[in-house]
Amino acid sequence: MEEKLTQLRQEINYHLYRYHTLDDPIISDAEYDQMMKQLRELEVQYPDLVTVDSPTQRVGAEPLESFEKVTHPLSMTSLANAFDDEEVRHWLGRVERLLPDGMTVEDLEFVVEPKIDGLAVALTYQDGILVRGATRGNGVVGENVTANVRTIKNIPLRIPVSADAPPPPTRLEVRGEIYMPIAEFNRFNQQQLDMGEKIFANPRNAAAGSLRQLDSKITANRPLALFGYAIGYVEGAEIPTQLAALEYLRQLGFPINPDITHTKDFAAVLDFIHHWMEGRDSLRYDADGAVIKLNDIKLQQLLGVAGNSPRWAIAYKFQAREATTKLLEIKCNVGRTGQVTPYANLEAVNIGGVTVRQATLHNFADLVKKDIRAGDTVIVKRAGDVIPQVVKPILELRPPDSQPYQPPTVCPDCHEPLTHFEDEVALVCINTACPAQLVRQIEYFVSRSAMNIDGFGIKIGEQLAKAGLLKNVADIYALTREQLLKVEGFGDKKADKLLAAIENSKSQPLEKVLTALGIHDVGSAIATLITHEFSSVEALQKATHDDLEKVEGIGPHIADSIVAWFSHLPNQQLIEKLRQAGLTLAVVGLTTAKNKESLPLAKLIFVITGTLPTWSREQAKAFIEQHGGKVTETVSKKTNYLLAGEKAGSKLSKAQSLGIPIIDESKLQEIVAGKLGN
Ligand code: IVH
Repeated sequence: MEEKLTQLRQEINYHLYRYHTLDDPIISDAEYDQMMKQLRELEVQYPDLVTVDSPTQRVGAEPLESFEKVTHPLSMTSLANAFDDEEVRHWLGRVERLLPDGMTVEDLEFVVEPKIDGLAVALTYQDGILVRGATRGNGVVGENVTANVRTIKNIPLRIPVSADAPPPPTRLEVRGEIYMPIAEFNRFNQQQLDMGEKIFANPRNAAAGSLRQLDSKITANRPLALFGYAIGYVEGAEIPTQLAALEYLRQLGFPINPDITHTKDFAAVLDFIHHWMEGRDSLRYDADGAVIKLNDIKLQQLLGVAGNSPRWAIAYKFQAREATTKLLEIKCNVGRTGQVTPYANLEAVNIGGVTVRQATLHNFADLVKKDIRAGDTVIVKRAGDVIPQVVKPILELRPPDSQPYQPPTVCPDCHEPLTHFEDEVALVCINTACPAQLVRQIEYFVSRSAMNIDGFGIKIGEQLAKAGLLKNVADIYALTREQLLKVEGFGDKKADKLLAAIENSKSQPLEKVLTALGIHDVGSAIATLITHEFSSVEALQKATHDDLEKVEGIGPHIADSIVAWFSHLPNQQLIEKLRQAGLTLAVVGLTTAKNKESLPLAKLIFVITGTLPTWSREQAKAFIEQHGGKVTETVSKKTNYLLAGEKAGSKLSKAQSLGIPIIDESKLQEIVAGKLGN
């Protein structure tokens, strides 16, 4: 039995390694669970045979009163920081002066590693078994967190013995960083929010807070991971370089950061760092800098330590992406579908080189839950292109007279009452005449997935709304040539082109019109579903909540939203105007032969090839057919146009040899809009 258990554990540990360290599992989760179940059952039957390195022992132990202090046999130094290239060059200059005679900078090799933003640990292995995990503490004395470290799935409890790897050393201290991967951090915080629990400001705090739990069962449920980056000491192996240390640890089964590089060229060191600095948002973990290390360990020893940090390494710190500042006021934005979202006006603060004055507050539920208030000092985070966000208030700094925030009851722009749909966090202004929504509605209405009015961008929408020519989307169909010519930037040609595109949009099918209305929660997929059940806007208008809910794919929220939209008087007036303008408000049966002939692409045969810039093949085909054209697969003499995108192949050469006109997406739209004629 003992043998069987050992084998089962080895197998499970191997799969844990494949999953958590290599990120390359070879069995399904279900198979893994099955093996764990078997092991657990056997261990219940044979409790004497349970070992410390059994994967069942990763679930956490009895809670502690306090952490035991441990003295590190070799102190854990910190790193000196550099904040720009100049300071790194300065460091290199000092290294150069300390080199032995005859050696120059040219002889150096560097290892460059992302500086993981987590917390440092020292893991002690005795004859291959993890016997202690300790935090760095002050570098000399740390805390014994063995029970917690044992719950982290990519940390080996026992170094596996394998023919392809070096034998486990008698004694080994691995140093590395415990961190929480960003995706896991986001998931974990969301889960905390959902349960009304406190959230962590960043992955570093999450990792530190999770590892320093007196109850290791809590740690066991936190998605922590390790990257090994150094050997404290090792008995039974000779390690000449940092690179060899990383490789040795990797062979023993420790997770090593794959983003580490090695070079002799100092210019390349700086290039790597700049590259990471810019690309830090694409890393799976938070890095707050890069660490440059001399590769040669003898050289490291020769240079030694100054104060608390080694002379042979330096941390190039990235600019912080978080800052604290004062929240001046909480305001609201009204989006296209009337969704009202809160944002914060802040006292200007520099975050990672960018001045931030505003940040999102996500939604009212989140804002109320975190109890963020005007006047609070708050933590603001900015990551890459993401909109800056208020993470949380610093309660200790809250002014005594501060008041909890009250979400609005009326729209901040049109002052109509806001609607709160059941089970949804958002507050919604359902008044389509709301000026704040107008420009965004126009933008959406004319977009490709809706009425597809070519050449009608957001700028034109803003201009026309500002000129008072558009008070709602239906006004688009009342625009005249004379009106357009008075708008800045419009000449004869541009005005005619836009009017033709507007005219053309009237033949957009019902599902596009429904999409264009911008009813909360009714996007193109739902709009299409609706047209299968309700063949006209009139029918939809008459539908009750129950009628709507009967449709497969439409739940109570969407049903609510549709009913609310149609019951609003200005919306009814909008529909009437669109009807008068001649839009398709009912499912059109088979287009009659006569109608078909008058369509812009009537009698034209198209072949599509290559990747189009914005359409899929299906979309392009639908567009052509909608306008009376036909799409075939092969190029022949009968083909009128080849619609070609990028990476077009043999169809393109065939069309060229047959002298068939080759057009792109925008040319096709021009043809339909009547600019080129056909
Ligand atoms: S080497 C003597 N490498 O940075 C060298 N440290 O301020 C000691 N860190 O406490 C550290 N990633 O928590 C090293 N690739 C890396 C690192 C790293 C993160 C942290 C570690 C240490 C701190 C130094």
